[in-house]
Amino acid sequence: MEFSIKSGSPEKQRSACVVVGVFEPRKLTLAAELLDNAAHNHLSDIIRRGDMEGKSGSTLLLHNVPGTLCDRVLLVGLGKEKEFGDKEYGSAIRSAVRTLNETGAFDGTIFLTETNVKKRNAAWRVRQASIAAHEAVYRFDQFKSKKDKVRRPLRKLTFVVDRRNELAAAEAALNQGQAIAAGISLSKNLANLPANVCTPTYLAEAAQRMAAEHKIECQVLERDDMAALGMHSLLSVAQGSRQPPKLIVLQYKGDKADASPVVLVGKGITFDTGGISLKPAPDMDEMKYDMCGAATVLGTLKAVAQMKLPINLTVIVPTAENMPGGGASRPGDIVTSMSGQTIEILNTDAEGRLILCDALSYAARFDPDTVIDVATLTGACVIALGHVASGLFANNDTLARELLHAGDEAHDRAWQMPLWNDYQELLKSPFADMANVGGRWGGSITAACFLSRFTRKYAWAHLDIAGTAWKSGTDKGATGRPVPLLMHYLLKRAGKLT
Ligand code: BES
Ligand code: MN
Ligand code: ZN
Repeated sequence: MEFSIKSGSPEKQRSACVVVGVFEPRKLTLAAELLDNAAHNHLSDIIRRGDMEGKSGSTLLLHNVPGTLCDRVLLVGLGKEKEFGDKEYGSAIRSAVRTLNETGAFDGTIFLTETNVKKRNAAWRVRQASIAAHEAVYRFDQFKSKKDKVRRPLRKLTFVVDRRNELAAAEAALNQGQAIAAGISLSKNLANLPANVCTPTYLAEAAQRMAAEHKIECQVLERDDMAALGMHSLLSVAQGSRQPPKLIVLQYKGDKADASPVVLVGKGITFDTGGISLKPAPDMDEMKYDMCGAATVLGTLKAVAQMKLPINLTVIVPTAENMPGGGASRPGDIVTSMSGQTIEILNTDAEGRLILCDALSYAARFDPDTVIDVATLTGACVIALGHVASGLFANNDTLARELLHAGDEAHDRAWQMPLWNDYQELLKSPFADMANVGGRWGGSITAACFLSRFTRKYAWAHLDIAGTAWKSGTDKGATGRPVPLLMHYLLKRAGKLT
């Protein structure tokens, strides 16, 4: 789909469809009012008859509206004006684009981007609109032999901003939104792949493909390389599987060569059976999503590279498959991590921290400014925060604040959880330096405490995305979260947010 920005009046648009909003109850937005004036109250008549109340999510398609130059007008319900915020704005754009795509309109001119959203400017509205538009038309149908073809898919979208002096900022925001959307799509596509296709080897190849496309340095460490580095914690997770583990390292240099990078580390368990501590059968298919951390850090790198952001970014993906098997770790096994600390594996299903700890030790060699790991780490985080917020843990308050703010701006929110020492004692082991589990209570916190023992050398944050990385049920699928949060954080660091 092609995207552009303009400013102008709705009645003068020669477009297949002009999209304007209606607040509940029956209140025209400014753009809708302009159309209504040109159309001698055609819109207000329809609304008075009760065909469009303005309820959030509702749409009404009108043909041959007098006094206009467009083929169609699409009215989109925005809900109550007082309640119109980030979430409502996103769903309005999505339902507009979905409807446009279904009506057979070749192009759409969207005036919803003019609508005031609390605390947000035009650049924000355009950035979010382009991300939402991509989300609305996203499909993952590569394994369907008969695809649901859209008869005449939408080809062109124009976002309207109300003032000419906003055009330049809106153009820049559109480019950012497009890059972020590309990163989200990449990460959803990787995550939605079944685990028999998306193996650690496949992830490594996907990383190499992306690196070649964007002139990023890429290195893949094999089992022997990792053994030489002493990554026996990571390797222990892979030893029950036929699939060899990989450690993928990507280095994007958009800043001076010697500037310390931000390092993103993503959990890449391509399937998590639990290992010998086998998971129950119901919904186990969803454990193909246990590589969403990896998918989202790769997606973030893609977005950064596409917008040529002037920062240095290193991405590290430890990837393995957690399977039971003759070679698998047993509960009670003790392994030595790259840091030298020993770990008693009391539960082989707490494997994410076992691969992350070695990747986090490895991160230190890049002399990082900041390290952020992203992982579908604990079911306990889903119990705590549901599917709304990602869990945030940090050993640095400034970093925590910046990430919380970025999540708020991107409507991809996180909520901070404690990393107090009081929790550390739950990880005591009688036989090794620590156990890999801390018992039933505060499971997402003890998991983060475990990681904190490997991140003392740098400013570090951990995002537990177990509840936010994918959706279950009828609209099962990866969400691409937290690519938007990470991108806002990086854009802000690079001084590219207006
Ligand atoms: N990948 C899972 C966490 C998970 C579970 C994410 C369900 C999303 C939905 C992780 O490897 C895991 O199994 N964690 C265990 C830890 C426990 C054994 C301490 C968990 O959360 O049950
Ligand atoms: Mn597990
Ligand atoms: Zn897992």
